[in-house]
Amino acid sequence: MAELAAGDDNDVLLEMEAHAEELGFPIIGRLCGRLLEVMARSVGARRIFELGSGFGYSAYWWARATGRTGEIHLTDTDPGNEAKALDYLRRAGLDQPVTYHVADALEALSATPGEFDIVYCDVDKEGYPGAWEAGRSRVRVGGLYICDNMLWSGRVIDPGGEASSEAIDATNRAIASDEAWRSTIVPTRDGVVVALRIE
Ligand SMILES: C[S@@+](CC[C@H](N)C(=O)[O-])C[C@H]1O[C@@H](n2cnc3c(N)ncnc32)[C@H](O)[C@@H]1O
Repeated sequence: MAELAAGDDNDVLLEMEAHAEELGFPIIGRLCGRLLEVMARSVGARRIFELGSGFGYSAYWWARATGRTGEIHLTDTDPGNEAKALDYLRRAGLDQPVTYHVADALEALSATPGEFDIVYCDVDKEGYPGAWEAGRSRVRVGGLYICDNMLWSGRVIDPGGEASSEAIDATNRAIASDEAWRSTIVPTRDGVVVALRIE
């Protein structure tokens, strides 16, 4: 199905995808990228906080949605990713709205004041419950909490005591049962939770 998004091809995007392939680095991929852009455009997102950014592939899609006047906060503990992300995004003409925090994602979120139109989570999976707890109060009413890998290749069906699977399962349950949110799991790639804050 990725060929349906072939119209998005450009040199920088293809370079990022080749770099991920070469490293075996888990980017969100073309179809989920499109999903992020569509979700951001659908809520008129201007201010986005991303937990776990790598070298900027998912940020590419956020920046397409917000344009130059947005405000996108990226986070990663690996300082090597910051330079790569800013270079890719600059060459794609999409670095204008971006601030990159080389820090623990939740510490950076805590240090950045204000509400967001979207908080997006893609950190290490054991961190998912804490990310939801920290992120849920930072999204404006009418905004989105979005989280990748929520099907975890099907392992959430029977977590079996494995730490990442248990953490994702607990997060799915916490989000689905939160009365201030309406949520669903979009089964694109590895499953993306899209949760809308309703109160
Ligand atoms: C799955 S990759 C992110 C991919 C990225 N969202 C994309 O699709 O292009 C996860 C990244 O989060 C970073 N990371 C994991 N846990 C983190 C944490 N607690 N704080 C900051 N960065 C974290 C890792 O270093 C890694 O680069």
